[in-house]
Amino acid sequence: MRLAYAKSRRLSSSGVTTGVTQIVVIGAINADHVLAVGSLPQPGETITCTREIAAHGGKGANQAAAAATLGMDTALIGVVGDDPLGSRERAALEQAGVDTSFIRATDTPTGSATVVVDNDGANMIIVQPGANAELSEDDVRAAMQRMDLSGSVVLASLEVPLDAVAAAAEYARSHGARFVLNPAPAMHLAPYLLGWCDVLLPNAVEQLQLGYSGSELFELGVGAIVITQGADGVEVLRPDRAPMHIESLHVEARDTTGAGDAFCAALCAALRRDMDLERACRFAVIAGALATTGLGARGHLPSWDEVERHLGRAV
Ligand code: RIB
Repeated sequence: MRLAYAKSRRLSSSGVTTGVTQIVVIGAINADHVLAVGSLPQPGETITCTREIAAHGGKGANQAAAAATLGMDTALIGVVGDDPLGSRERAALEQAGVDTSFIRATDTPTGSATVVVDNDGANMIIVQPGANAELSEDDVRAAMQRMDLSGSVVLASLEVPLDAVAAAAEYARSHGARFVLNPAPAMHLAPYLLGWCDVLLPNAVEQLQLGYSGSELFELGVGAIVITQGADGVEVLRPDRAPMHIESLHVEARDTTGAGDAFCAALCAALRRDMDLERACRFAVIAGALATTGLGARGHLPSWDEVERHLGRAV
């Protein structure tokens, strides 16, 4: 059904894709190579894995797949290599229901990541950016110009060039869409880019690495900050309001890879469906927790109904 939706989108004579794109994701598309181990290796240590799987990854692709699995009309803007891995990743996104017509193919190999996961679900990730490094401002603007962004939520992460992210933020904010930034991996961000963020979604480490305090971010124009803390839930910071902590759902975590991506996607989906920020965070922590129950970043992406069933029990 979702695949049918993605394939049913058509270009009008003006070049605009017909139908509102509810969630637009700008980010990386990777082929993940997952190695399950008993415990993560120490520097200088050689260990043997217990299982090896070829999985789908990249923060942008994971977020887009998670949003589409929640039932949102979702498009991903990104770049893959013109190679078998690029075709494989594009096919996996289409299978999840993502509109892949804004993904460009290039001669540079598809991005990849080696993910090592231990028995407790903790991970180490090394990324080879490949084609993701070629995403340009022009790619982003050309894609967004073809979309109807009325009321959309645009979500970006930082495994692609900052210029492309900034172009997405500026375009979103000047065309009636909200802009949400997942600053992962963390890096120094220019004040003007932060000023375009309706919501900033760092994890606790990234929040420190950003180098701005909460009040400095609010002065720059950030609308709200939601700091993810893994199994401990999230901290919600808003200007002129007391910080609020939201507990996560308790699950047996198998692999925490991609849990943050599922959280970001679910938060954007909930905001797009008019939940207020607090309820959207309650919804998203459940989606993030459920995502840890499968191996690989997309080992278990929950549907809207699955998250709602747990939300019903939590309130
Ligand atoms: O957030 C998890 C993702 O980070 C993995 O899928 C990997 O590809 C890296 O991009």
